[in-house]
This record gives sequence, C-alpha cells and structure tokens, in this order.
Amino acid sequence: MVRLKFETLRWTRGRLRLIDQRKLPQQFVYLDCDDHKKVAYAIKNLVVRGAPAIGVAAGYGMALAAREYRDLKRESFFKKMKTASETLASTRPTAVNLFWALNRQDKLMEGNLDKTPSEIFKLLLKEALQIHEEDRQMCQAIGEHGSKLVPQKATILTHCNAGALATGGIGTALGVIYTAVSKGKKIKVFADETRPVLQGARLTAWELRKQGIDTTLICDNMAGSLLAAGEIALVIVGADRIAKNLDFANKIGTYPLAVLAKEHKAPFYVAAPSSTFDKSIPNGSKIVIEQREESEVLQSGKGKINIRGLKVYNPAFDVTPASLVSAVITEKGIIRGKRK
Ligand code: MRU
Repeated sequence: MVRLKFETLRWTRGRLRLIDQRKLPQQFVYLDCDDHKKVAYAIKNLVVRGAPAIGVAAGYGMALAAREYRDLKRESFFKKMKTASETLASTRPTAVNLFWALNRQDKLMEGNLDKTPSEIFKLLLKEALQIHEEDRQMCQAIGEHGSKLVPQKATILTHCNAGALATGGIGTALGVIYTAVSKGKKIKVFADETRPVLQGARLTAWELRKQGIDTTLICDNMAGSLLAAGEIALVIVGADRIAKNLDFANKIGTYPLAVLAKEHKAPFYVAAPSSTFDKSIPNGSKIVIEQREESEVLQSGKGKINIRGLKVYNPAFDVTPASLVSAVITEKGIIRGKRK
C-alpha cells in the first residue's frame, strides 16, 4: 500500500483546494477555488497540471458553475452552464482528460434536463467526486500492473511529472515506482529537470524525495550519456493523449528520450489511465500541441534573456510514435507496444 504525504486536489468546505504547483518546491501553499472561473485560471496557469489532475479539476469546475447559477431559471441556467463548459475547455488543448471529464459532466446534464438547477448541482458534484475516486483507483491499478515490469533492483529514468501531483491518486509513471518500492524493490530514480517549466526539477524531485525515494536530478541533456553508459534499466513516462495506434503526446522532450531508449535498448514504458486514450484520432498527427509563452524559455539562469529580434519556439508537448514504445501500462493491464 502506498501512502501519500500530500493531497494534490481536495473538495473541502464547498471548495476545490489545490496545491499551488507554480510555487513548489520553494513554497507549499494552497489555492482555493470557489467558482469555475478560478478553476479555469488554475488549469491555464499550471496551478494544477498533469493530464488526469486537469480532468479531475475540470469535473469539480462544472459542479462549482452549477452552484453559482443554481438560482437562475432553467433555460438561463443551461445557457450559462454551456458557457462554463466552454471556458474550462479553452484552458489547455492537449491533455484529452480535460475534454473527457467535461464531456462526462455535459452528458450528465443532457440526461437530466427535467431536473432543477439545484438538483443538477448535486448530481455534478457527485460525478466530480466519482471522477476523482476513479482516478485514484486507476492510479492504484496502474501501479500494480506496472510494478511487475520493474526489476528487483532498477535505476529508472523519468521525464516531466507523472506523479501524485499530476493525478487524483498516486500518479501514473511515479505510481509504478511507488508501488514497486512498496513491494520491497530497490529503486533509484533519475529525474529529468524538464525545461522550460521544470516540472521534473520542481515537482518530480520534490514529490519523490517527500515519499523517500532515492532520487537524482539531471539536466535534460544528460539523459543520453546515462543511457549510453547502460546506467538506466528502463524509462517510464506519463501521457497527455494516446491515439488509437498508440502514438502519444507527452511533455516536450519525451520523443528524443524514446529515440535514445531504443538506441540503447532500454525499455520505454508509458503509464496512463483510460481517460487519456483518444479513440477518435487514428494517430498522433491529429493531436493539437499547446504552444506556450516565450517568457517560459527566455527565463534562464539568473535572469531573463533579452535579445532584440530573437524568436522563441515553445511547444509544451511532443508526439512519440508507437514504434518507440515497449508497452503502455493502463489500469486494465499492459498493452504491448510496437517497438521491435
Ligand atoms: O504541462 P504539464 O505539466 O501539464 O504536462 C504534464 C505532462 O506532460 C505529464 O507527463 C502528463 O500529463 C502525464 S501526468 C500523469
């Protein structure tokens, strides 16, 4: 059994309480959301991030919207709820879990058009709590299945943060690591810092150490030499969207890692719940990649790079083809990848 030392999202006293991940690891503070616009702000600005956690937050966002509008007449209520769903959907384009959770809430409303706004608020809150609980259970199951792929003594490389901070439970990629450790396996983890937002250095390093895991931080450009030296037993990452053919989007820098893992014959695993699968797209070319602000890349070292006329390219995600994936670990079991 894995015991977490912190809670990323929590419905408490009629609010959604989020760990403000922009501030970690320097400060551990919460942001409380008591309306849907604040939830949208939190998703857009990376207070809460990671595909499953974004989905869980959006589910609560819809419940908050229903509470805000529950005194309206039915027709105006449904109009406002449609706008609220669009506001939440417009926050980030890549993680499909966001749209999956909103779709669940939208469908629930569509099936209950005869109910009063107050009754709909109660239904949406119940559903949000259910989405959260399901995510917890999916992480648990991913951990169980994935831990079977981890050798007794292993040094594991991970990228970005696919841990408890990115989900409603113990995490996906890191959930596999926590579960393997809880079963007595001796694990060391190398965490890529994950430029430009440093989810690896700020979040993965923080949560792994908090959970007592042997962790070494590296800059992204150090992964190749570790793999070449045979120091890495396996690479494991999360996903933001998995297409029908198993191509998947994840944090920028995942694709080169998968190429390196193949070159150096280290297994490359993806851990994700079914809410991350997008069966409507045949392959990764259809995944919308979020482009983020220049300032994220320009913020470097001690100051800000300020060079006249300099352009910046800042995609938040890349797509890794299924041909580079050894296996996808889901709550239902392990899907063999297409890597030869
Ligand atoms: O931009 P972020 O921090 O939301 O990106 C997160 C990732 O890319 C994660 O690896 C992914 O969402 C999987 S989280 C279990």
